Amino acid sequence: METIKPLHVAELRKMREAGEKIACLTAYDASFALLEDRAGVDVVLIGDSLGMVIHGGNTTTPVTVDDIVYHSKAVAPHLKRAFLIADLPFLSYATLDRALDSSQRLMQQGGAKMVKLEGGREQASIVEYLSVRGVPVCAHLGLQPQFIHKMGAFKVQGREDAAAEAMLHDAKVLAEAGADLLLLECIPAGLGARITAESPVPVIGIGAGAGVDGQILVLQDLLGISPQVTLGRTPRFVKNYMPGAVARGEKGGLIEAAIADYVREVKSGAYPAPEHCFDLPASIKP
Ligand code: KIV
Repeated sequence: METIKPLHVAELRKMREAGEKIACLTAYDASFALLEDRAGVDVVLIGDSLGMVIHGGNTTTPVTVDDIVYHSKAVAPHLKRAFLIADLPFLSYATLDRALDSSQRLMQQGGAKMVKLEGGREQASIVEYLSVRGVPVCAHLGLQPQFIHKMGAFKVQGREDAAAEAMLHDAKVLAEAGADLLLLECIPAGLGARITAESPVPVIGIGAGAGVDGQILVLQDLLGISPQVTLGRTPRFVKNYMPGAVARGEKGGLIEAAIADYVREVKSGAYPAPEHCFDLPASIKP
């Protein structure tokens, strides 16, 4: 019988070095965790997006560490191969002590192997504090949904040259502070490619173009059932993989087939296509 080896940070680095794209997807329960793992998803994220796609809120602000632990506990035991990341929710890493306590809960109670936090260079001391204590960290740049009440709206980031340069600098500072992974959300494709080319660690994108090391989507967006898709507010980077699986007449495992299609398209580079990408700031245009 073939033994399935669980993925670790080191394998994600090797995938990047080998030019193999990393396929990531959110999950929040056991049923989908099993399907995603079987369909070949490399990284599963317990995203604080659960506040919107599971709890039905308009923002991620109300999500708590208890919520993330609850969903991580449902997912972690069902991942044989995929690497599990869990989000540190709003203000759960506002101080060094809170960041450590919250990460301890996500890893010891929830079974996560890495925590993700939002923010730029101002989070470097927190990233370093966690990293030197054995907590692998993913730093989330670009659109940071936890800052919605300061931003006012979810919109593409890094379009102006100054903002693009600042993000490049943030990415370097966070990697130097010990981040093992970067995640870029909703930024111009050229900026995503440039941050990736200059990054010493793997870079995952969502709406960050094709030049990053891997892609992530929210599960319910991929299945075409998230509230924003249902209400006709589908973000540009989202692709619904259900119609393809249905059109092929997949019997039974339609959802698993749709997820497997996503994994294949990420690996082959077919996703994201140009229509899923945002344009480039002037300084980054070829
Ligand atoms: O919360 C989440 O699901 C995320 C992804 C959108 C990357 O942060």
